[in-house]
Amino acid sequence: MSDDIKLDRHDDARAILARNDRGGYTVPTDRLYPFQWNWDSAFVAMGFATFDIDRAYRELERLIEGQWEDGMIPHIVFHAPSDTYFPGADVWGTRHRIPTSGITQPPVFGMALRFIHDAAVAAGRQDALERTRPLFAAALRSHRWWMKARDPERRGLVAILHPWESGSDNSPAWDEALARVPTTTTTQIRRKDTGHVDAAMRPRDVDYQRFIHLVDTYRDCGWNPEKQWASAPFKVADVQMTGILARATADLIRLAAVLGAQDEVAELSEMHRLLTEGLGRRWRDSLRRFVSLDLVSGEDIEAPTQAGFIPLVAVTLDGQQRAAVAAEIARWCDGMVVSLPSTAPFSPAFEPKRYWRGPVWAVINWLMADGLRANAMNELAGSLERGTVWAIEQAGFCEYFDPTTGEGLGGNTFSWTAAAYLVLSRRVTDG
Ligand code: GLC
Repeated sequence: MSDDIKLDRHDDARAILARNDRGGYTVPTDRLYPFQWNWDSAFVAMGFATFDIDRAYRELERLIEGQWEDGMIPHIVFHAPSDTYFPGADVWGTRHRIPTSGITQPPVFGMALRFIHDAAVAAGRQDALERTRPLFAAALRSHRWWMKARDPERRGLVAILHPWESGSDNSPAWDEALARVPTTTTTQIRRKDTGHVDAAMRPRDVDYQRFIHLVDTYRDCGWNPEKQWASAPFKVADVQMTGILARATADLIRLAAVLGAQDEVAELSEMHRLLTEGLGRRWRDSLRRFVSLDLVSGEDIEAPTQAGFIPLVAVTLDGQQRAAVAAEIARWCDGMVVSLPSTAPFSPAFEPKRYWRGPVWAVINWLMADGLRANAMNELAGSLERGTVWAIEQAGFCEYFDPTTGEGLGGNTFSWTAAAYLVLSRRVTDG
């Protein structure tokens, strides 16, 4: 690939971020997702940090305008109205000063903050500490919320109460737990997603009814975390979420030290210990990966999804585990044009084009590569990074990719795919 072509793609990536900018925050893509999404914005902020530090900070600052009193950072902040998305602000019925959804998403925020802070320092920015400090305070409040609201029984694992919280909304990992959720709703369902993209790539109607049943249930709890915990018909201690939270906690420990916040270093270190120990108990030798725990049935969730490898961002594997993970990933990638599939191709649940049931996501590969590098598995990390960059260069900045063909699918001109390109292509170029 010549440098010229690479340069063009960088411009394209920046142009997508500019086009999806709605005034200091970025929508994931026009129409299909017309508001600010939590973890999308965290990834996008890191993308911005590669060329515009101010704008990177701004993305996070705008996200926490939606942060609740209790510390939760919602999964969607409805800064401005749009009628191209369901369920909108009226369905959530939350009471924050800005309309938001009532559930959350993976806390990549802390990881992004450290990334931006480091980029600001490297760029010689005198205001780095000043800019980072309030965002650090917001992140800390959100981590406290996670521990209190989503691990009240102190397992060292945080739970999701809705599949949409996982970020892997339609993953087969949730099939059994979701099947127990009633399909009755008090809200009238008016899907908009299938008007933007092919219905065959989206969740089924019956699953949508269950998704909305959960929203109805939690809204009826007045969005009170204790009440929701007690009445949740869907409750999964998720290893992907916990892995990301633990990694973000490690990043906050580093920032707390830089900010001279000693008490917070101690508090976060205790959190980190709990979470990494919790994750350690979720490793399964026979499956060569980590497994989530269904807190309603008490059973392991064995569906083979990418979530099983995400804890690598936070935990240090021993030699045997590393070899096992490498062998398992090789098995998942065997015969694929682009890796890593979000569901193992040998699983009956594998659907290469349907949302979270097989397709490749650039940001998941970004997390995977970080986890593999943290565990000194650099070669595998490099190959995922190169594969992601290649997929984007040949198919465009799509929402996700068919692993069996490399075809780009879902929404196009996707912000986090552009951000992933900006960050990962640098690594590929730098070797
Ligand atoms: C879908 C994805 C979720 C993402 C959102 C916006 O709902 O499953 O992870 O945050 O789209 O891109």
